[in-house]
Amino acid sequence: MKDTFGRTITYLRVSITDRCDFRCTYCMAEDMTFLPRQEILSFEEMERICTAFINRGVTKIRLTGGEPLVRRGVMDLIKQLSRHLETGALKELTLTTNGSQLTKYADDLVKYGVRRINVSLDTLDAQRFADITRHGKLDTVLNGLEAAKKAGLKVKINTVALKGQTDEELDDLLEFVGDNGFDLTFIETMPLGEIGGSRVDHYLPLTEVRERISKRWTISDTDYVTGGPARFVDVAETGNRIGFITPLSHGFCESCNRMRLTCKGVLYMCLGQDGNVDLREVVRSSESNEPLQAAIDKALNLKPEGHEFIIEEGRDGPALNRHMSVTGG
Ligand code: GTP
Ligand code: 5AD
Ligand code: SF4
Repeated sequence: MKDTFGRTITYLRVSITDRCDFRCTYCMAEDMTFLPRQEILSFEEMERICTAFINRGVTKIRLTGGEPLVRRGVMDLIKQLSRHLETGALKELTLTTNGSQLTKYADDLVKYGVRRINVSLDTLDAQRFADITRHGKLDTVLNGLEAAKKAGLKVKINTVALKGQTDEELDDLLEFVGDNGFDLTFIETMPLGEIGGSRVDHYLPLTEVRERISKRWTISDTDYVTGGPARFVDVAETGNRIGFITPLSHGFCESCNRMRLTCKGVLYMCLGQDGNVDLREVVRSSESNEPLQAAIDKALNLKPEGHEFIIEEGRDGPALNRHMSVTGG
C-alpha cells in the first residue's frame, strides 16, 4: 500500500476503547465523557478491518486506547489477531498500555504472541504520578512492569515530556530503565482534545531534554528503528536506548508508515489532521470484504503530507477536536 507521497503503509494503530482507568492531565479533562457502547466497534468488526489491512500489506498492528486492557474480553481479540502471526502475514502484534492491568494479563499476552509492549509512565514519584494520572497508583504500574518483565515481554517506557516535572526526573528515569533493561521514549505533548487548560505551560521541547541528558550520560545516535516515529540514541552507561518523539520540534512525517482506526471505526490518515474515512458503516453494511478493501484504498489516497500541530513558547495552537484516547495516539 503506497500513498500519493510514495510512503508505504505497514503499520495500523487501533484504539479498541476510548475508556481509561486514568485521567492523565495532558490527555483528558477530569470529567471526560466516553462514547456510548453501541458506537464502539465489536471485536468481530475490528478483526475484519484488521484482516483487510493485513491483506493490503499491513505487517504491524498496535492496540491502543484509552487503555486497551480495560475493555472486557480484550484477550479474545488478541487471540483472533494472533492467528495472523502464526501465518506470518503479521510480523508484530503489540500494544500501548498504561500498565494498570499488566499483573493480570502479561502472561496471556506472551501466550498470544505479543513480544514487546509500550508502557506509559511519566514519573517515578508516587505523588506526582497520582497528580498526573488523577486516578492511578504508581505501585500498580510498577508491579505491572515487574510482571511484564517476568513474563519475558520487552518493554519500552513512554514518557510525555512535561516542563517542571520530567526535567526534574531525567536521571531517575534513565537509571530506572537502565536497571530494568527497558528502553525509554520521550514524547512532546501534542494539542489533541480539550483538557480544561493550556498545554503551553508544560510544553518541554525534546531538544532541551536531549541536551540535559547528554551532560550526565554518554549518548550516541543510532539508526535503531521500531517502525514508530522515535529517533533513538544509545546510552553507554546502561546499554539501553532512549528515543525522542518530536512531532513539534523536529517532524517525522516524511517517513510516516501508519494509519489509525478509532474505536468507532473511523480511519484517520494522520494523527494531526482531521481527514478521515468511516469504515463502520462499510463493515456493517456488507458481509463481503470488497467494499472494505475499496474504502481502505480510497483512504490511502487521502493521506496528507503531514500534521499541522502548533505549540510553541507562549503560544498554544488550536487543539484538534479529538482526544488521543479516541484515535489511539
Ligand atoms: P514503537 O512501535 O515502539 O515505535 O511505538 P510507537 O511510538 O509507534 O507507539 P506508541 O503508542 O508508543 O506511541 C508513542 C507516541 O508516539 C504517542 O504519543 C503517539 O501519539 C506518538 N505517535 C505515534 N505515531 C505518530 C504519528 O504518526 N504522528 C505523531 N504526531 N505522533 C505519533
Ligand atoms: N500528547 C502527547 N502524548 C500523549 N499521550 C496521550 N496524550 C498525549 C498528548 N496530548 C501519550 C500517552 C501514551 C501515548 C500513547 O500517548 O502517554 O504513552
Ligand atoms: Fe489513559 Fe493514556 Fe490518556 Fe493517561 S494518556 S488518560 S493512561 S489514555
